[in-house]
Amino acid sequence: MNPYIIEAVNRQIKAEFEAGFLYLAFSVNLHAYGLPGMSHWMREQYREECGHALRLISHLELRNAPVQIPSVNHPEYKWERPQDLFTLALEHEQRITSAIHDLLELCMREKDYAMQVLLFDYVKEQVEEEHQVEEIARQLMLCGSNVEELLGLDARLASRSSTAWE
Ligand SMILES: [Fe+2]
Repeated sequence: MNPYIIEAVNRQIKAEFEAGFLYLAFSVNLHAYGLPGMSHWMREQYREECGHALRLISHLELRNAPVQIPSVNHPEYKWERPQDLFTLALEHEQRITSAIHDLLELCMREKDYAMQVLLFDYVKEQVEEEHQVEEIARQLMLCGSNVEELLGLDARLASRSSTAWE
């Protein structure tokens, strides 16, 4: 496997875990705020991001390429309302999308077809991820300061089932 691709995939593994930890932090924030449904939604998102990282790890293993288990940090953030966390999540997803596109371009240039096939799933997944987060951010904006509507949305998000893939 091309060493530049191995390095870039290891960087993406770190980015996926970092996204996961960011969502885990959001989940804890939302739980403390009193919104268990949104907290649950973010925790599912955490699981999903770990699934993305694990799938990349498995692919490197299959091809006998070295895997670096990253030390995971997530960026500092400030928030006041739940809406801020979903807006931050959307911005983060947009950064992940461009990182996936950069990685795919590298794999195209270097003719790594197997990695391209795997990454097409990620490209597709990012479209859904961005859409979901954006939709919730928009719905939160519509709720404004109406507590009843906020709790209704929270109850709906509590029913998200696990979609993590590994
Ligand atoms: Fe991801």
